[in-house]
Amino acid sequence: MEVIGIEDGYEGLIKNKTRKLETKDVSGILTLGGTILGTSNRANPFAYGEEKKDVSKEVFRNFRNLKLDALVCMGGDGTLHIAHELIQLGMPIVGIPKTIDNDVGATDFTLGFDSAVAVATEAIDNIHSTAESHHRVMIIELMGRYTGWVALHAGVAGGGDIILIPEIPYKIEKICEEVKRRSKIGKRFSIMVMAEGVKFSVIDRSLPAGRRGASGGEDRELVVKRKVKDSTDPIRLGGVSYKIARQIEDLTGLETRVIILGHLQRGGKPTDFDRILATQFGKKAVDLVLAEKFGEMTSLQCGEITSVLIESAIRNLKKVNLDSPLIEAARGVGTCFGD
Ligand code: F6P
Repeated sequence: MEVIGIEDGYEGLIKNKTRKLETKDVSGILTLGGTILGTSNRANPFAYGEEKKDVSKEVFRNFRNLKLDALVCMGGDGTLHIAHELIQLGMPIVGIPKTIDNDVGATDFTLGFDSAVAVATEAIDNIHSTAESHHRVMIIELMGRYTGWVALHAGVAGGGDIILIPEIPYKIEKICEEVKRRSKIGKRFSIMVMAEGVKFSVIDRSLPAGRRGASGGEDRELVVKRKVKDSTDPIRLGGVSYKIARQIEDLTGLETRVIILGHLQRGGKPTDFDRILATQFGKKAVDLVLAEKFGEMTSLQCGEITSVLIESAIRNLKKVNLDSPLIEAARGVGTCFGD
């Protein structure tokens, strides 16, 4: 097969930025994070640039001029949604789910998730010493957008005392009870691991408890760090941990500090699990192209490498299942989820 690498994701297909990929170009990249081709999360061919222009015709023209027989799209929710739209217009596409968020459906894991969890777990390990020496509540805020996969897995692996994920609405009182309980039994520090997508709960204390309405007088809001105008999803989350830290300090008097791990989670060497998954997904994607199974995406299901329709994978955001054995196990060892 002749392989052409498209640079910077869909941007390269819009602007015709491509280069030939040969064995020598990919030899030795197994240990690298990121992508040698570059990426962009702003180049949507159906709403391109500030004017949100539909440039899908250019994309088809470039695709034809390159004499491509198939396109392999690797990415998360946004990338696969665009792939699905292009498939509807007749482009022969095969997908590979790749995002640290692990929020793509119809696959147990997405590429990159395990490596992000490894970085986050190491950070939690490193926070323990200072939390313990200084008797502090330490909050570690992790990425994951609207789901809590990274926070749940890293939180359990790093032995977080409290884990907050968007799928389980928290109550500030429960968090404070837990840090005070730990303090009383001689554990003079607490580690709280939380997802950036946890909605901050504003308690309306001006109302008596009985008159706080159906929501319990709690409005919940996403904490948005910035908006990236021409991105598929313009919202960038971040900073909810600062707001919760202030509440914990006010209600318990315990010093509470925050670490937002941010893009560190998207760097470093991929884990062995991700390297193995990438090798298997890569091989499977080539098989799908050869079999002309366009519209399908590689998938990991109960240890088996298989394929599913991209459409079924993006139908709903894959959220943490509240009955999952991992949540049950975490609760079993005494982890507080703030509920
Ligand atoms: O989707 C991957 C992700 O890293 C999210 O976890 C995070 O919310 C977002 O991307 C950050 O995007 P950016 O790199 O544009 O700030």
